[in-house]
Amino acid sequence: MPSHETLKVELAERSYDIYVGDGLLAEAGALIKPVIRSQRLIVVTDENVAPLYLAGLENSLEAAGLSSESIILPAGEQTKSIAYFEQLIDQILAKKIDRQCTLVALGGGVIGDLTGYAAASVLRGIDFVQIPTTLLSQVDSSVGGKTGINAAHGKNLIGAFYQPRLVLADIDTLDTLPQREILAGYAEVAKYGLIDDPEFFAWLEQTGIDLCNGNKDHRRQAVLKSCQSKAKIVAEDETEQGRRALLNLGHTFGHTLEAETGFSDKLLHGEAVGLGICLAFDLSAHLGLCTKDDANRTRAHYAAVGLPTSPTEIDGVEWHTDALLNHMQSDKKVENGKVTFILVRAIGEAFVARDINMADARLIVDKAIRQN
Ligand code: NAD
Ligand code: GLY
Repeated sequence: MPSHETLKVELAERSYDIYVGDGLLAEAGALIKPVIRSQRLIVVTDENVAPLYLAGLENSLEAAGLSSESIILPAGEQTKSIAYFEQLIDQILAKKIDRQCTLVALGGGVIGDLTGYAAASVLRGIDFVQIPTTLLSQVDSSVGGKTGINAAHGKNLIGAFYQPRLVLADIDTLDTLPQREILAGYAEVAKYGLIDDPEFFAWLEQTGIDLCNGNKDHRRQAVLKSCQSKAKIVAEDETEQGRRALLNLGHTFGHTLEAETGFSDKLLHGEAVGLGICLAFDLSAHLGLCTKDDANRTRAHYAAVGLPTSPTEIDGVEWHTDALLNHMQSDKKVENGKVTFILVRAIGEAFVARDINMADARLIVDKAIRQN
């Protein structure tokens, strides 16, 4: 098997390649060099990823004749904030960069979103490359150009659509990822099957447990398939005027649960998405849009790999229906005062629903937080 496969995100002059494979960090310099405008790069990473992968990346850049400096930030969602955005921009500008300089995001979705937004903003836009090192960032956040940070008022409320020049998804980096983070990323993998690819979901039902437990072939195939699905949707609808909203399956409920935990480690983003997907299926079944069997099958699969499927499984959080409904109404998925949901007619048949009666959403939330 070749060391990597290549996909393209087709966006006219903003098109770029996604490489998915093994050993890509060692090849990064040679792969990045043809797509950037100068020899100068700044690698942005976090304190967990730096000791594992920064030196390897720097060696590879140097071997390709590229000069790099690095900025290491604290790990975790709190880094995707205005305070760290300011700190990052200051550090970048202190290096006296010009517009030909390239930022490289080496890490998970936090580093990717923050670095991408810094690239979109500094000097009115410089190039950036994504090297995602979590399953979640390899299958979702590094592709498609959504960049940004959280605000006191909510998640991802500040940001820009800004595409990278290249994405390098090195499957080997997943070997060091804690199991809880693998599972969180897996929630987004299964999402692609649930949106519009029932065969992929059926394949995951066969392979998902092995994949989560370390099977590299399955991981590679799943990352490839997920990136293919995402690249196709992004090429059709880069700025989420329509179909791209389907990628938010599980996010209306999920962001609400995350907000209630203060975006803390009590509930990871991917875990929240998995829970949110279960609730979106519950709401769909409650409204008679999909069968209870489809809702049960989805929940059973998430449970089988070891993901939480009910908010009551999350330790140390007291859930309140009113508070959850409040968060839902201040999310950025509210349009003309109406909360947007992604619901399903079946596994693999998601659609955008803008006319949902909030009494029905309340009922689902209320039931979910009381379940034992
Ligand atoms: P993360 O970036 O916080 O990474 C998770 C943890 O794993 C961190 O502690 C990190 O230091 C550590 N880590 C990263 N790679 C590692 C490795 N290879 N080995 C060991 N540890 C490693 O979280 P995430 O789940 O990657 O990303 C979540 C973020 O992504 C959220 O902020 C979410 O909003 C965002 N997101 C963005 C998009 C988008 O389209 N832009 C899509 C989905 C999610
Ligand atoms: N993660 C949702 C999107 O990229 O649109």
